Amino acid sequence: MRSLIKSVLNREDPCDQLHVAGWVRTRRDSKTFSFLELNDGTCLGNLQIVADAGIPGYESIAKMTTGSSVEIHGKLVPSPATGQRWELQATSLKLLGEAPDDYPLQKKGHSPEFLRSIAHLRPRTNLYGAVFRMRSRIAYAVHRFFQERDFIYVHTPIITASDCEGAGEMFRVTTLEDGQISNDAEDFFGKRAYLTVSGQLEGETFACALSNIYTFGPTFRAENSNTSRHAAEFWMIEPEVAFCDLEGDMDLAEELVKYLVQEALDHNEGDLAIFEKFVDKGLRERLEFVASRPFERVSYTEAVKLLQASGKTFNYPVEYGLNLQSEHERWLTEEHFKKPVTVFNYPKEIKPFYMRLNDDNKTVTAMDVLVPGIGEIVGGSQREERLEILLENFKKHHLDPEAYGWYADLRKYGSVPHAGFGLGFERMLMFVTGMTNIRDVIPFARTPGNCEF
Ligand code: 4AD
Repeated sequence: MRSLIKSVLNREDPCDQLHVAGWVRTRRDSKTFSFLELNDGTCLGNLQIVADAGIPGYESIAKMTTGSSVEIHGKLVPSPATGQRWELQATSLKLLGEAPDDYPLQKKGHSPEFLRSIAHLRPRTNLYGAVFRMRSRIAYAVHRFFQERDFIYVHTPIITASDCEGAGEMFRVTTLEDGQISNDAEDFFGKRAYLTVSGQLEGETFACALSNIYTFGPTFRAENSNTSRHAAEFWMIEPEVAFCDLEGDMDLAEELVKYLVQEALDHNEGDLAIFEKFVDKGLRERLEFVASRPFERVSYTEAVKLLQASGKTFNYPVEYGLNLQSEHERWLTEEHFKKPVTVFNYPKEIKPFYMRLNDDNKTVTAMDVLVPGIGEIVGGSQREERLEILLENFKKHHLDPEAYGWYADLRKYGSVPHAGFGLGFERMLMFVTGMTNIRDVIPFARTPGNCEF
């Protein structure tokens, strides 16, 4: 059976018969033999192949150019060269797929913009290979974190009729043709349907039955904000915990963020080195700092006071009752506290209908976790579990109480205090890789005006 290059490079012992396959990174020829650097994407490292002229398959060596795919049998021996433990002395070579001269990844040092235009080939580069291995590892750690804590994984629907965030940023799902588009009753579901912006409302129903649940899936927002932190399709992790208040919610969010940061530090040594080399020199130090120290907690009211007293000129105004903008969030974490900050208790007017009203009658139990370099990475709250107040909120937010009757039922039958949050998976990945644009941590990014591949 074929061995993956990652496992070959980590071997303790030599091996007489080994079978590997991959893509050629470079080739150097001398009169009597050739060196090939082979990569199969399982890790950063390449396996060096030494192929003597005359072995079966050597007649194709000239076509084994950068980007071509090959299969090799050989003997794994200690490498006399420095910087690598093993090399493979080929006994046979086979060219699988040629890569003609126009292979776009010939030279080193392509710009992220160019690589986005060839997103089908970009995982073959060292940097993007590392990004997408990290993506896989962190996704796995998300499940491990929750499963270890007895959370139940719930698959909430992708097509929905409810607007969880009430922000009107939903993509409509319809089978109606032009001219019919307003005829909701004739549409596929007999009413308007959308791609979900959040699995929260459905998640709450399961928390109010199974206690601790989480969702982890794609979400969609038709926000026309072409920023480096927004995508139209992104993944969100949304835990929901019954018998839990805001305090417990903030504890869980901070614990999750730290756990994932620790995962990045523990499991991707080679990949982290690549991020440090090409993206962010201080990455490891920053991650170690975040994993080892408590986050700051500050109320929205205090945060506004700090921002107003900062003496800094911001593009957007800072005033009680207005949303914090990215520049404000970044000042709090990067310049003022110099660590992640959880901001809580926001004015009720700027938050969605489901958040629990505080006793001051002015604020709701919302919380956002902000991290340096990115700003908001988590948004959550304790939920309004009192039926009368929830029904009031439906009115204030112009929501049809009938359409949300199922949601209100959770408050009618055995209501419990409960809380949850959403962690933006891509924002988390930006944080642990140092990548500064969300498009560079998504295999095929969907942003305004861009739906290639
Ligand atoms: O703060 P948001 O909008 O919260 C919710 O959707 C709640 N229903 C979550 C919950 O309580 N269960 O979004 C949560 C997180 C944000 O903090 C951010 O990290 C990410 O989702 N996010 C985006 N990531 C990429 N592109 C976008 N357009 C995003 N919008 C939100």
